[in-house]
Amino acid sequence: MKMVGTFAEVRDAAYGSVGFVPTMGYLHEGHVALMLEACRECDTVVASIFVNALQFGPGEDLATYPRDLDRDSQLAKRAGVDLLFVPDRDEVYPDDEIAAVELPDFAGRLEGERRPGHFQGVATVVELLLTGIDPDRAYFGLKDAQQLALVNWLVGARRLSTTIVPVSTRREPDGLALSSRNRYLKGESRVAASALSRGLFQAADAVEAGEADGPTLEGIVSAVVADAAGIELDYAALVTSDRFEPLEKLEAPAVLAVAANVSETHLIDNVAFFRGEDGIEVDRGVVLERPSVLEEN
Ligand code: PAJ
Repeated sequence: MKMVGTFAEVRDAAYGSVGFVPTMGYLHEGHVALMLEACRECDTVVASIFVNALQFGPGEDLATYPRDLDRDSQLAKRAGVDLLFVPDRDEVYPDDEIAAVELPDFAGRLEGERRPGHFQGVATVVELLLTGIDPDRAYFGLKDAQQLALVNWLVGARRLSTTIVPVSTRREPDGLALSSRNRYLKGESRVAASALSRGLFQAADAVEAGEADGPTLEGIVSAVVADAAGIELDYAALVTSDRFEPLEKLEAPAVLAVAANVSETHLIDNVAFFRGEDGIEVDRGVVLERPSVLEEN
């Protein structure tokens, strides 16, 4: 694996079909799953580590966002990444003013409403990375379902030639979705956080038993989270996967998207619904057999 800092070096070293995995580092098995999928499908795999200041709000955790480049490069290398792209800010952001793409309405809902400017920052950096690297395929986690919807929209709106590949959520053995921010969860907070996936899994069970009413499914998650100590539900919303339109009645593809606050930490998670051969199927993600690298710290 080679570590590079410029778009030119990435383009020079890449050969054949190129798969790209954008990240903000502090890698875990969720990121690794994206890299493995890219390795399966592409000749050259590029992963980026760039903590994008533009997508953090004024009161958010930019300064304390966890970083560990040594561990990241070991994990990326083991996953089979060919090029680890670690640019500085000036490489990603041109000197000239960037014309911000006008986002669709759905980027202002749920996470967009809680985190003003966040999706504008995501859309800007994803477009700059995709145009700078020009990959055939780029891999994004279903864990951030609204971000994935936005990236799909962006690729269409800006006529980018990259195919976006979604990858299922990786979870700790107790169900908690892996996230670099889980590092902030210690002791009781860590226990409290698992209520979110517990609620989602109960709602998923209900769907498999035939429940299709949106408010009922949202209510199942709310009730489980309300029962747990130390966690405050922010929202539970059944929405379409592509535009995050609210759904009164389940149809597929859709996501049951949830957010909660555990002390200062904002957590998001979801289960996704697809149309399978025998009707609606649920993607709960993949539960790891052993605790992730995040739990070692
Ligand atoms: P980051 O939070 O580092 O996530 C990088 C990629 O990993 C995203 O596509 C995210 O959805 C995916 N991911 C995170 N946790 C996951 C999990 N538990 N299972 C599967 N995939 C997971 O998302 C970002 O960075 C940034 O917004 C970025 C797209 C890099 C733009 O700055």
